[in-house]
This record gives sequence, C-alpha cells and structure tokens, in this order.
Amino acid sequence: MRRPFVAGNWKMNKGPKDAAALAVEIVAAIKGVDTVDVAVAPVAISLAAVNAIVANTNLGMSAQNMFYEENGAYTGELSPLMLEEIGCTYTILGHSERRQIFGEDDELINRKARAAISHGILPIVCCGETLEERESGSTNDKVAFQVKAALSGIRIEDAFKVTVAYEPIWAIGTGRTASPEQAQEVHAMIRNLLGDIFTAEAADKIRIQYGGSVKPANISDLIAKADIDGALVGGASLKAESFAAIVKACS
Ligand code: PGA
Repeated sequence: MRRPFVAGNWKMNKGPKDAAALAVEIVAAIKGVDTVDVAVAPVAISLAAVNAIVANTNLGMSAQNMFYEENGAYTGELSPLMLEEIGCTYTILGHSERRQIFGEDDELINRKARAAISHGILPIVCCGETLEERESGSTNDKVAFQVKAALSGIRIEDAFKVTVAYEPIWAIGTGRTASPEQAQEVHAMIRNLLGDIFTAEAADKIRIQYGGSVKPANISDLIAKADIDGALVGGASLKAESFAAIVKACS
C-alpha cells in the first residue's frame, strides 16, 4: 500500500510573515493526521520562517524549484545543499509554469531530479499535457516522454524517493479538473511506464499525485482511484481549511 502524499504548492504567494501564519493554521488543522504525508511548498524567501513552524510536526516542507549545482555563479538559483540546510524534505521540479514561463526543458529537469536525489532531497516531478495535446490525442505520448526524460539515469534503488505529479495544464488554476476516470487512465499509464523504466516492484512504491484544481469537493473521487496516491494542490492550499479538508479526505 502506498501512503498518500498531499503537497500544497503556494506558488508566488505568501511572504515570510503570511507564510508562517498559514503554516501555524495548517499545523493546527492537520494535528493527529498520521496516515498521510503532507508538505507545503512556500516561496524560497519564506522557507526559513515556515521551517521554524513546521519542524518536528507532521507537516513537511518542500521547495518549489532547485538548481542542480551545489554553489557557484548561478545568479538567482538555490542549491540542494541550501534546501537541505533550510529544512526541505522535498522539492517540486518541472512544474508546467517553470516549463512554460521560464523555459525549463526535460534535460534540465532531469539534471535537477538526479541532483536532488543525490543530496537527499525528494523530488516531486511534474508532468502534464496542454489542452491542444489532449484534444489531439497525444496526452499519453507527451506525459510518457516527460516522465522518461525526467527520470533518466535514476537508479532502481532510488526510485521510491521520487513522486510523480500528473498535472494536466488545462486543469491548473482553471477550476476545470480532469475527471477521476481521465486522471486514473493517465496515472495507470504512468505506473506502467515506471515499471518499464525501473521494475514493477519499484513502480508499485512510487507515488503519483494528481494536480489541477483539486478541492475538498473533488478529492474523494480522485483519491478513490487505484493509481491516484495524493494531490499537488495549488489554489486550495492557500487556505488552511480547504487544504486540511483535502488532507483528511486522503487519510
Ligand atoms: P491549482 O494548481 O490547484 O491551483 O490548479 C495546481 C498546481 O499547479 O500545482
């Protein structure tokens, strides 16, 4: 049995003060939940403030992005060593906003994923198709290509450290969720592919989150599906009440 994993992607919201306040509320709201892994991903400048609240609680912390080098002339970037020092267990990598707005490509995301694992940071690797790709029937090809590229070179014994987040781009921030059946179909395809990349046994341990307009009202039907192991939540993670309701629905 895979343990559900719910992560809140706060995106470019909540500076240190507001982030700490929201973390306090979430810690209180999910107190006692012990059957789900939970994390929030604040902006980099709020990581220290959030870590001060969540350290030694059941709320974990993720970065939203990471560079693959340890230090050096990489203006504006954060290294795996820095994320570790500040208390991150996870980092989101290859979110569609990073790919589309900041031009990240599959090779870069792969280098980041390998660097994260080699430094003990657990990567949440995002993939997902555009509306155009879905309508032209190329969802599986696109998602499979992204997953294969992102995980290239990762050893079988490290496979369980990876979380894959399937986020159809047309469902992100649009209020339009993939139906549980649409999501499950892609998740099952990803799980099969993970079996080919690693082994069936390793694939069985990898958590695949769904992301894209996840809310308290739709999480129960999503999490009921065999290959949906949790959620990567954007908008609904900015309120403790809705985020905690999503976490509890997965417990
Ligand atoms: P959303 O964002 O829940 O606001 O759709 C999800 C994400 O981009 O991770």
